[in-house]
Amino acid sequence: MEKAERTDYGQEASLPEEIKRSLDQRTKEVEAVVERYLPEETGHQKTIFEAMNYSVRAGGKRLRPMLMEETYRLFGGRGQEIEPFMAAIEMIHTSSLIHDDLPCMDNDELRRGVPTAWVKFGYDMAVLAGDALLIYGVETAVKACAFTQNGGAVARAIGILAAKTGIYGMIGGQVVDVQLTNQPIPREKLDFIYRLKTGALLEASMMIGALLGGADEEQLKKVEEMASLIGLAFQIQDDILDVTATTEQLGKPVYSDEKNQKTTYVTLEGLEKARKDVAEISARAIGILHSLPGENPFLEGLIRLLITREK
Ligand code: IPE
Ligand code: IPE
Ligand code: MG
Ligand code: MG
Ligand code: MG
Repeated sequence: MEKAERTDYGQEASLPEEIKRSLDQRTKEVEAVVERYLPEETGHQKTIFEAMNYSVRAGGKRLRPMLMEETYRLFGGRGQEIEPFMAAIEMIHTSSLIHDDLPCMDNDELRRGVPTAWVKFGYDMAVLAGDALLIYGVETAVKACAFTQNGGAVARAIGILAAKTGIYGMIGGQVVDVQLTNQPIPREKLDFIYRLKTGALLEASMMIGALLGGADEEQLKKVEEMASLIGLAFQIQDDILDVTATTEQLGKPVYSDEKNQKTTYVTLEGLEKARKDVAEISARAIGILHSLPGENPFLEGLIRLLITREK
């Protein structure tokens, strides 16, 4: 287990420059895939298409589809059936952000550097745009059937997508997050919230990549564990950035958690421990990655980059 215990992955200096450089290119490629699956803005219900596309096109790191495709490649996947799933996960993630920003939830007015969906289109259209992206994500994932001989794997992947999004996944986590706003939260409950509200969609991303890439059951389990760790580290870093970054950097308001009197990893454990834990948890994830067959230096570099991400 020596690899898994290493904690030096947060060293910015050791990050291959090459990975940073290829990140921009990869982001553009992922964006082009997502774009192909967005709805056309015509017809009587045009407003909903505009609201959906506005929120997706606003930008974002495209981390989930990128992790999905890189995990697919790790297991040797080379086909096109991954593409509808890449678009789907970004749609579903974006739907979660639209709803997360609503006045009845985190009440935020800026997302991905532009006014949030409810500010731009009104509460009614923002609720509908969130709903629309959620189910259009599923509709989009089903399109993978056209690119595969393995309908069984695609069906299972759609099941994972739905389960990790729903009441036992992201939505379940958001429920507890919202319910416990304004209250002290014990550490183990906070871990539960983070595992679901943020971890679950990362688990779906990497598990779907692994499954369609040809991973076996044992490998799929490992990928789920690895993604869960990446998700936990990602949400802790999100909490850190909420109090250390600028609005310009993030494209969303800083001190949103404080405004809503949220218990976060930072309020519970302090900034220093939070930073240390991001590096440690990510190192555990990389330890699992090393225990899997195949190699994908970009994927490893990406996980390492997330430790010190500034947006
Ligand atoms: C924000 O996710 C919501 C969290 C789960 C912390 P991202 O930080 O991935 O947001 P985008 O997609 O880059 O905008
Ligand atoms: C959001 O957590 C998680 C989901 C959207 C599912 P946050 O509320 O911390 O995300 P940001 O900071 O608004 O992006
Ligand atoms: Mg929130
Ligand atoms: Mg929020
Ligand atoms: Mg946050």
